[in-house]
Amino acid sequence: MFVIGHRGAAGTFPENTMISFKEAARVGAHGIELDVHMTKDGELAVIHDEKVDRTTNGKGYVKDFTYQDLQKLDASYKFKKKYGVCKIPTLNEVMEWALSEGISVNIELKNNIFDYPYLEMKVLDLIYLYKMKDRTMISSFNHNSLARIGSLDSTIETAILYSYPMYEPWVYAQHLGAKALHPNQRTVNEVNVAASKDCQIPVRPYTVNDVKVAEQLRKYGCESVITDYPEKMVKQFGGRFS
Ligand code: G3P
Ligand code: MG
Repeated sequence: MFVIGHRGAAGTFPENTMISFKEAARVGAHGIELDVHMTKDGELAVIHDEKVDRTTNGKGYVKDFTYQDLQKLDASYKFKKKYGVCKIPTLNEVMEWALSEGISVNIELKNNIFDYPYLEMKVLDLIYLYKMKDRTMISSFNHNSLARIGSLDSTIETAILYSYPMYEPWVYAQHLGAKALHPNQRTVNEVNVAASKDCQIPVRPYTVNDVKVAEQLRKYGCESVITDYPEKMVKQFGGRFS
């Protein structure tokens, strides 16, 4: 089973920062998951919330910051200087690093509240620029956005995110043209994983932090787990280097 580090290694490092992604890579995770919003001047910022308030020492919406002003914030302030100052990375920066590192990337489009203009095209452009298509998964709770991605490039790996039980999600995925399912782990059971696998649709639940739960999901046939603790999961299931 593959291990994808949620926001890098968010259980132990400041989420969605380079230091967190590097930690996930260091411990042997197969991939990293990250979240993308857009600044006022159209830069792709790697941060989870619409606002910077929870994870940085700033206040306000990402969409109201210029890229330059966003760079002045510290995304590790909650860790009380343990890791020094960590900037909010751009997607460009993470993709460039991931290419050299040889790690897979799950880009989550956070456009379910604000419909950032041309987000899908900008993300695709970066994937093409770094020739990372074979190692990138694009997921979103905004399924319209996934359909848009599919209409721009039907061969890219898109994954449907959902947090509540759905009726036959593997049928819905095929209808949408999505290639994978990224469900909240609470919604996953043996029957829906088996049915998805029969349709060649991999299931990668989030956020799986308990090894016993991960073991159960592996038995069901899940292809990957998305976890805040990649080190623990790699020890149990193996990683990129084992
Ligand atoms: O992509 C999996 C997971 O990250 C989805 O939820 O809120 O942690 O972005 P969230
Ligand atoms: Mg996410």
